[in-house]
Amino acid sequence: MIEIIKTKPYTDQKMGTAGLRKKTRIATQENYLENFLQSIFNTIPDLDKKSFLIGGDGRYYNKIAIQKIIKIAAANNVKKLYVGQNGLVSTPAGSHIILKNKLDGGFVLSASHNPGGLNGDFGIKYATSSGGQCQPSESEAIYNQTLAISEYKIADCPDIDLSHLTTLKCENTEIEIIDPYIDYIEMMKEIFDFPKLKKLATSGFRFVFDAMNGVTGPYGKRIFEQELGAPQGTVINASPLEDFGGLHPDPNLIYAKHLVDLMYSEAAPDFAAANDGDGDRNMILGQSFFVSPSDCLAILTDNYKLIPAYKNGIYGVAKSAATSMAVKRVADALNIGFYEVPTGWKYFIHLMDSNRITFCGEESFGAGASHIREKDGIWAVLFWLSIVADTRKSIKDITLEHWKKYGRSYYLRNDFEGIPQETADKLMADLEQKLPTLVGKTFNGFTVSEAEPFIYHDPVDHSSNKNGLVIRFTDGSRIVYRLSGTGTNGATLRTYIERYVTDKLLEDPEIMLRELSAAAHTISDVTARTGKTEPDIIT
Ligand code: G1P
Ligand code: ZN
Repeated sequence: MIEIIKTKPYTDQKMGTAGLRKKTRIATQENYLENFLQSIFNTIPDLDKKSFLIGGDGRYYNKIAIQKIIKIAAANNVKKLYVGQNGLVSTPAGSHIILKNKLDGGFVLSASHNPGGLNGDFGIKYATSSGGQCQPSESEAIYNQTLAISEYKIADCPDIDLSHLTTLKCENTEIEIIDPYIDYIEMMKEIFDFPKLKKLATSGFRFVFDAMNGVTGPYGKRIFEQELGAPQGTVINASPLEDFGGLHPDPNLIYAKHLVDLMYSEAAPDFAAANDGDGDRNMILGQSFFVSPSDCLAILTDNYKLIPAYKNGIYGVAKSAATSMAVKRVADALNIGFYEVPTGWKYFIHLMDSNRITFCGEESFGAGASHIREKDGIWAVLFWLSIVADTRKSIKDITLEHWKKYGRSYYLRNDFEGIPQETADKLMADLEQKLPTLVGKTFNGFTVSEAEPFIYHDPVDHSSNKNGLVIRFTDGSRIVYRLSGTGTNGATLRTYIERYVTDKLLEDPEIMLRELSAAAHTISDVTARTGKTEPDIIT
């Protein structure tokens, strides 16, 4: 039986940088999820021929949301649903399942690295047949549906048991509960030299993989402990928990402080890595050493030949505009293509599909390649392990050698959080107006050479997207300003600060960037406008 339920639009269902992300208490309002899902299905023709993946990072409300998606999809006559066992699938594994099975899209229930629970966040990443998140034009069409919706359809079948690998039906829709790990592990084995990695992992090399109680716990256990033979206990915080055990599952220096403290202590193992809630972000640490994500992308690219899947060559490389220029220097040296896109992984998809790039990354702890259409936390960890297996060098030495070869981009991101939306919008609009007047002026010793909005022209679909403002200085330093598209609490102003040097390679970034950070704050007038004298978070 299919019920048609009357509903009223919510006006806040516009997708941000990565899907729809909301406070859980907002997402659990009556008909909130139902409206959004029906709006998506309203934009897809021939649903009776379409198949989708459903899964998520295990956070609070996912189990209820999955049952709703199944019933709404069935009522809309979707052909088939593939559902991750126990409702789990990481964002990268989900992308692979969509591509491998040629599905028409998928729903990964995750607010990524944001905390979970009733007082945390809930989210849906909606992917298309590309294997990646929908393009801006598609999310615009869905948003328009959410503003006009008056009813949704839902099937009246019993809740599906997600714990067994089996195939069931709800109305005409077939529902297959799938193993979310096996195909992903096979793909990793095709990319990397697992026997070589196994030698490293069983040779006394000590490492820790922190899944932060997100979805990569079971992936990590299978890959690092079972396949590669690392000792039991190598994977920590390994059970996906609805509230991430109280952790903020964001692998960075602030929220993975427990791991950072370990790596800067006497007891530090040789290597540590963490992933975020849904497994697309990564953080890499050595003994008393942190690899910044921008450097990570540059170092991986420079070492592509060490990995079996890439040894015959790679296409180009891309980064988000806010990410440091480190990878550009590698791309120039390797004589491969280099692209800069707006923030958000979806902008890399066309570049991968058209064989323009193989690797890509973002400063926000994201790195990945064209094996899928999402960033991939475990892939980055296996890549680093491969570099160590080959060179037998420490993480610090690998990075230091890279800087000696290419110079170093000191890099920090300053976030001003919880700003009223109108204040933030006005700050950005006024700053954009002022950009032309900055050229030629000197701030704390740095002279502006160019100042302009970042506008991306997609070479494949020829769409244009504006994302943030960029100020370049005569010495190669840069400041980038943009507003976050993933926050759930007012607006967040992100300022990205970068300074390039070829000497002084082992200084403290906060000291090296003090003058430039101060200049960034002066230029944006952030203190007068928000009352904030310091960023809330520096990463
Ligand atoms: C943030 C990051 C961005 C990343 C996104 C999803 O988006 O800055 O690089 O793609 O999360 O993980 P933002 O909040 O800046 O819009
Ligand atoms: Zn994520």
